[in-house]
Amino acid sequence: MLALDHDDHPVGAAWWHFREPLLLVTPDGAPVPELVVAVMPAGRGRGVGRSLLDALTARAAQHGYDQLALSVHIHNPAARLYSRSGFVVAGKGRGPLGVAMVRHLP
Ligand SMILES: CC(C)(COP(=O)(O)OP(=O)(O)OC[C@H]1O[C@@H](n2cnc3c(N)ncnc32)[C@H](O)[C@@H]1OP(=O)(O)O)[C@@H](O)C(=O)NCCC(=O)NCCS
Repeated sequence: MLALDHDDHPVGAAWWHFREPLLLVTPDGAPVPELVVAVMPAGRGRGVGRSLLDALTARAAQHGYDQLALSVHIHNPAARLYSRSGFVVAGKGRGPLGVAMVRHLP
């Protein structure tokens, strides 16, 4: 998913992947898609990240997934954005200071 500015230049992107080792699996062993989001430095703090999260969440639900996961560094301010977007802590994430978060999709 790409976010474009008024001149159609990309300012951010969000996607999901299933990189091994998987961050999270469901109780019956199904892999949970892992979300990644990034916005160009000049475009941050203006709601682009939130829009990308909402759009990717809707796309994941359309694909039949009932959860989305992500890993965030414990000191990354992005964790606040994820909490506001409905993600909750789900355990250890990637790297020594990574926290896994999950959002259950409607
Ligand atoms: C995280 C990120 C995608 C958010 O996109 P955004 O367009 O700035 O987000 P929004 O404007 O919708 O929301 C603002 C929130 O983003 C987070 N944020 C703002 N600047 C940030 C920065 N430089 N780095 C990380 N998170 C940031 C904060 O949670 C902020 O809300 P708050 O001020 O209430 O805490 C973007 O800041 C970014 O690309 N950061 C660097 C890469 C990164 O940390 N990616 C996430 C890895 S898990």
